[in-house]
This record gives sequence, C-alpha cells and structure tokens, in this order.
Amino acid sequence: MQTFRNITDNILFIGGSDRRIALFENAYPVPEGITYNSYVILDEKIAILDTVDASVSTLFFDNLEAALGERMPDYVVVNHMEPDHCATLGELLLRYPELKIVCNAKTKTMIAQFFPKAKIDDAQYVLVKEGESLSLGKHELQFYMAPMVHWPEVMVTYDATDKVLFSADAFGTFGASKGGLFADENGFSEADFSEARRYYTNIVGKYGVQVLALLKKAAGLDIQYLCPLHGPVWRENIGAFIEKYTLWASYTPEEKGVMIAYASIYGGTENAAEILASELSKRGVRNVEIFDASKIHPSYLVSEAFRMSHLVFASVTYNNDMFPAMETLLLDLKAHMLKNRTVGLIQNGSWAPQSGKHMTEILSSMTNMDVREPLVTLRSTVKEENLTELKALADEIAKSLAE
Ligand code: FEO
Repeated sequence: MQTFRNITDNILFIGGSDRRIALFENAYPVPEGITYNSYVILDEKIAILDTVDASVSTLFFDNLEAALGERMPDYVVVNHMEPDHCATLGELLLRYPELKIVCNAKTKTMIAQFFPKAKIDDAQYVLVKEGESLSLGKHELQFYMAPMVHWPEVMVTYDATDKVLFSADAFGTFGASKGGLFADENGFSEADFSEARRYYTNIVGKYGVQVLALLKKAAGLDIQYLCPLHGPVWRENIGAFIEKYTLWASYTPEEKGVMIAYASIYGGTENAAEILASELSKRGVRNVEIFDASKIHPSYLVSEAFRMSHLVFASVTYNNDMFPAMETLLLDLKAHMLKNRTVGLIQNGSWAPQSGKHMTEILSSMTNMDVREPLVTLRSTVKEENLTELKALADEIAKSLAE
C-alpha cells in the first residue's frame, strides 16, 4: 500500500525505507536502516526525480501509481546514477516507455553501462548542462552540476517555483524513516546530526572541495525545502545543516575536544588511553571520547575525527607494525582527506615498539596533522615513567585546546 506524502501542493515524496539492510554500500553499518528518496512533481508535465534501490521498488511503484492516478509521467530526472537511486530506472522505463530521461552526458554513459540491454533511443534523452532549465508548466526546474558529490555525474535540481533543492546525496542521513517525512516532525535535534555526519564523512568526506563548490552554488538559491536522496526532508534549520556542511567540507573541526582511539590486545595500551583521558579531565578538558578501534566500526571513528579538533591514537605493536584495526582507521582517515588536526600518539611494544613510527608515517603523509610530543612509549604495561609522559602529553593537549 502506498505511503506517499506531500511536500508542497504538487511535490510528493514517493520513496521508502529499508530496515533489513545491515551494511549500506556493503561497507557501512546502518543499525537504524536507511531511506531511498524519490520525488514526483505533478504539473502540466509530470517529472519523477530519481528512483530508488531495488529493496524498496515495490513500495516505490505503489507510491508512484497512487500519485499519478490516471496520468502518465513525462520525465524522469536522474540526478545520480548510483544503483541505490537508479536500480529501478530500468523497470520504470519498461513501464513508461514514453518517458524522457533528463540527465547530463556523463549520466547517459552510465545508464548504458548499468542497463546494457535497455533499448533507449537517443531522442528519449533530454541532456542538460550547468544552469539550464526545464519548464513543467508552473514549475521551472534548474540544473546544477555537482561532480564528485558523490560520483562524477551527480547534479542537483532546483525547483524555482516552490523553492525546493533536490540535492542528490548531499544533505543525506543514515537511518530509516521514523514516521515523519520532515526532519522537524521527528524532533530532529543537534544530537541527530551524528548520523548525518557519519553519512557525509564516509560517503563524500573525501570530496570537500567539490562539496564547497556545490555550497557556493546553493548559496545563490532561495531554498525553502531541502530534499536529499537519503533521510528526512528539511524545511527548518536548513541554515544549521549548511553550516555543518561548510565545516565538514573544509575539514574544520566542529568542536574543541579529544577523540582517543586505541588498539590494545591485553589492556596495557587501553590503560594508557584511560589514564590520558583522566589526566585531561583533571586539566579541565571536558569533551573527551574514548574508543576501542577493534570494536567500533571505523565509519563511526571517521565521523568522530571530523568532529573533534584533537586526536590521540594509541596502538600496540603487531607484526612489527601497528595493530591492524589502527592501520585501518588511519588509512581510512587519510583516504577521506582528513586534515588540520592536532595529534598525540601512544605506542606499545613488549620487545620492539614500532607502532609509533608507522602511525607517524601515515600521519605525515596527510595534510596539516600536527603531531605533538611526547610520543608515549610503553613496554607492555604502564610504568611510573609512562605516567610522567602521559601527564606531559595531557599538558600539551590541554594547552593546545586553550589556544
Ligand atoms: Fe546514495 Fe551516491 O548514492
């Protein structure tokens, strides 16, 4: 049974939620599920904006048919060709063979790649470029290219009539629907930005430059509704969300605080991490979070590292290198282009401590990662001399936080 809802008089949400999925993109845990958003604009001409993942295709077509009534759609606008949004495009074209595909040239190439058996005539395409528009009657759609937010073909569509930005993956959030369509209906709070942050940092975190370019274009638009391809629709606090994006995309920490991530086998390294946190607390540092990198999925730590100004990595030595969980985390942070952070390091080794050297190598290949002294070195367990080093590191971090 259909679950579509109105956003404005003529714009409807026709997507759905997948709560069975364990890993989004087969990579990121989504314990609260995820939504795949699709929209339809009912005007003299009818436009569908993106389709959905195969997991919610039945609901999508129920929603679409209910929204259309006796009418037929004229256009499908493809803002993003990743299969979580285009998996049902092939069936949509089979059901509505007269449909025109509105997309850019890169998208057209990808459609042929993903649907090699589809018989799509060139005349079926309406190819658009930066700033071009399409009239549906009352509604005027404008198209803006947003390459690498998250794939090269991505574009966003602005409905100048109802002042709606269909933002593709930008401003998406992990998590299935909580009932409300709009973020404010679910009582979306500052704390809820955590899943928006985890989505952003892991999915598009690498492409800050390109996201800033999109934000620059968006700044010129009057946006009353923000309609991403995942998560709730925004009609309140849009400015606050854009502010968060500006920080994330420029790799600016949101908060002065310390993330301590440790990789420990028998507890010695964990003990040092806890002592450091306690010493920071004694120095008045209140915003400290400790994570066991072996236990927490790296996507949560990537998100936390984007949030915090100061990062401490503590790792045991393993196979003459750092512990695998720590290597995964640091390489993930590097891959997502994290920069501009103040860093402390703790290494442990029962006979040949090497993890500090290897952690430093990765950090020095990143941009503006300010590794502070001392490098705390444990031999199996924390000793008196280590307490001195940990206090010195706490002093250094507290001093830096106060700057
Ligand atoms: Fe939600 Fe880049 O796909």
